[in-house]
Amino acid sequence: MPTPPDVFSKVRGHEREEQLKAARDADLLPYFRLVESPAAPIVEMEGSERVMLGSNNYLGLTGDPRVIEGARAALDKYGTGLTGSRLLNGTTPLHVELEEHLALWMGTEDVIVFTTGHQANMGALGTLLGVGDTVVVDSAAHASILDGIMLSKAKLRPFRHNRLDKLERQLQRASEDGGGVLVVAEGLYSMEGDVGPLPEIADLAKQYGARFMVDEAHSVGVLGATGTGASEMFGITDKVDLRMGTFSKSFASCGGFIAGDADVVDYLRVSSRSYIFTASGVPAALGATNAALKIIDSDEGKELFARLLQNARRLADGLEAIGFSVIRSEGDLVTPVVPVLVEDDWKAILLWKALYDAGVFVNVAIHPAVPPGGALLRTSVMATHDDAVIDRALGAFASVKKTFEAEHGPLPSD
Ligand SMILES: Cc1ncc(COP(=O)(O)O)c(C=O)c1O
Repeated sequence: MPTPPDVFSKVRGHEREEQLKAARDADLLPYFRLVESPAAPIVEMEGSERVMLGSNNYLGLTGDPRVIEGARAALDKYGTGLTGSRLLNGTTPLHVELEEHLALWMGTEDVIVFTTGHQANMGALGTLLGVGDTVVVDSAAHASILDGIMLSKAKLRPFRHNRLDKLERQLQRASEDGGGVLVVAEGLYSMEGDVGPLPEIADLAKQYGARFMVDEAHSVGVLGATGTGASEMFGITDKVDLRMGTFSKSFASCGGFIAGDADVVDYLRVSSRSYIFTASGVPAALGATNAALKIIDSDEGKELFARLLQNARRLADGLEAIGFSVIRSEGDLVTPVVPVLVEDDWKAILLWKALYDAGVFVNVAIHPAVPPGGALLRTSVMATHDDAVIDRALGAFASVKKTFEAEHGPLPSD
């Protein structure tokens, strides 16, 4: 009998191995850095204080005493874990409260809560699409969207990021595929901080008889007058069939949801594999999410959204004034994600390290997370950053830029 190749052979000698080792040896790896304090505007990381410009804790609610108390009360009442699926023994009054409140807030008939946002996308797409259907998806879509599509075995027709002409071409092709058609886009793209042309996408989807889903993972609790996301900001919630959100960003917790019509949501409850065959989220996560939603869905929430965008503008304007190239959204729309273009992957890593050493933590996006030559530092603000902390970070950016350019040559500027 022939011996099959070892499936583990791919873990040795892969293309990333050498780069990873070189970066680790030189202490340049921007990933897996240890955060040793609560997620806050200033964190303790590897023995030093750093300004946190690399989190998705947009509203800063992870440290809010009411959210912490929500988590603690749920822990005290329901214990550490639910040890089973929502379907069997993992649904508590906390889930019911959360789903009912979310449905009211989102203005949909129903909402289903999953254990993570990734599972929400997997569960919705992997269940509602099937062999013979076509999904037309923005090419910058998150991995969880693509994973759900792969699970469904539907035909994937990607269109170039935010390009309506390419979307329409794919919709024309999709209409000849013979099955149902779903268009998927995100409300706020997490790396470049841009918002897509959702109204035009919704109109095209309708024109071609397709359903429309928006992943609001980074826009829920951030955009729109009441904070439900980009669809609300554009006034098109009635044109979006499904909206997905996570609790791992502005909600300061962990979990995800799908909001939509009651019959669709109920179908997911009995058919979605990532809902049925996984354990329910821990009670503390649910308790924190319920408490965060109460804050978000209040006048205080609106103040936090405004403060967040004010902080983003201060950071973006400040970085530009220093001479960095900030990638701005269409129509000068400000979002909490402020990307700084570096272009070269290696320079991006060196710049990241210089900033880290100067007391500022940001995220780095290099190829393949961004197109080749499009490396960037992804900075993001919280509503709880104050002006002094943002200015402290800007001071570090300014001094790092000077020494960095003297050593490594000029960085892109506008
Ligand atoms: C656009 C988008 N969708 C879905 C997810 C998955 O959410 P979660 O991290 O809560 O599982 C993320 C988070 O990284 C995301 O950025």
